[in-house]
Amino acid sequence: MKKILSLVLALALVLSCFCVASADDVKTYKVGVSIYQYTDNFMTLYRNEIEAYFKTLETDTVKYEITMADGKNDMAEQTNQVQNFITQGMDVIILNLVQTSSADAVIDQIVAAGIPLVLINREPLAYDADGNTIDEAYEGILDNATVCYVGADARQSGTYQGQMVADLDNHGDINGDGKISYIMIEGDPENIDAQYRTEFSIKALTDAGYEVECLDDQVGNWDQTKGQELCANALAKYGDKIEVVFCNNDGMALGAATAITAAGRTVGEDIYLLGVDALDECVEMVKAGEMTGTVLNDHIGQSHTAVDVAVKLLNGEAIDNYYWVNYVMVNKAYVDAQ
Ligand code: BGC
Repeated sequence: MKKILSLVLALALVLSCFCVASADDVKTYKVGVSIYQYTDNFMTLYRNEIEAYFKTLETDTVKYEITMADGKNDMAEQTNQVQNFITQGMDVIILNLVQTSSADAVIDQIVAAGIPLVLINREPLAYDADGNTIDEAYEGILDNATVCYVGADARQSGTYQGQMVADLDNHGDINGDGKISYIMIEGDPENIDAQYRTEFSIKALTDAGYEVECLDDQVGNWDQTKGQELCANALAKYGDKIEVVFCNNDGMALGAATAITAAGRTVGEDIYLLGVDALDECVEMVKAGEMTGTVLNDHIGQSHTAVDVAVKLLNGEAIDNYYWVNYVMVNKAYVDAQ
């Protein structure tokens, strides 16, 4: 009996040592993530992938506790969230800014608190002494070894949109009057993605020697309902004159597609429709000929890069200030080849 008792005691001792040791060995990193707006189609895919990918990197000894917040498209709300992240002692912050014009203030606070920062999706714009934006890297990022930006160069996505129209047999000139008459539905004009896609989609056409005519250019703020409303209004006003509908993202293109159908028009026959993001529904529409083309905005590549660099920062490794993920043209030829 005594023997059994001492055996049980010894076993308990070994087990308790083992448990204490393993609890000590587990490191849980606190990660704060704030997304500019949860209702955004693309950022929903992006944020879900951030969480899913962090999970895949967990081991027996490393865990990631993620606190995700909805910026509700309100910079004051997001600033509060950042302050809470600082108070809660986050080990790293991943931030999709509501307003890139607030980048300085936000970066300063986070850097002052000694927390590394990964900015995603909305690139802060560099500006000169007069406050005008310039095409250069952002000092608030360059000057800080623990701050970086992960994104995609929107010039590429705009260029692909224009090229997909140029590549059509009639080059987007359905009525044969020698010019491509289009409407543009823009995302939030403060975002460089919206600015560049608007500019470079058209530049690709004019660079290729085509004449263009802008019938309408409106701001749809990346939003599907707004995209539908703006496209419906333009169709009512300009009717058959509209040959191409450029949308800065797929969300707005989905809305535009509804308006196009409601107006009795047919994509691929009497109108063309372009988006960006390659949301699953839009890739299916390209396959079915219901959308002329979209551009893959690689949320998997971007979210994984953002998480990988966050992990590097957690490990105290050196990082680059900028990470770029390529866009991919998604037209009928592309989806047929998949
Ligand atoms: C995406 C849009 C999204 C926006 C949010 C863009 O890169 O293409 O769909 O609404 O980012 O900032």
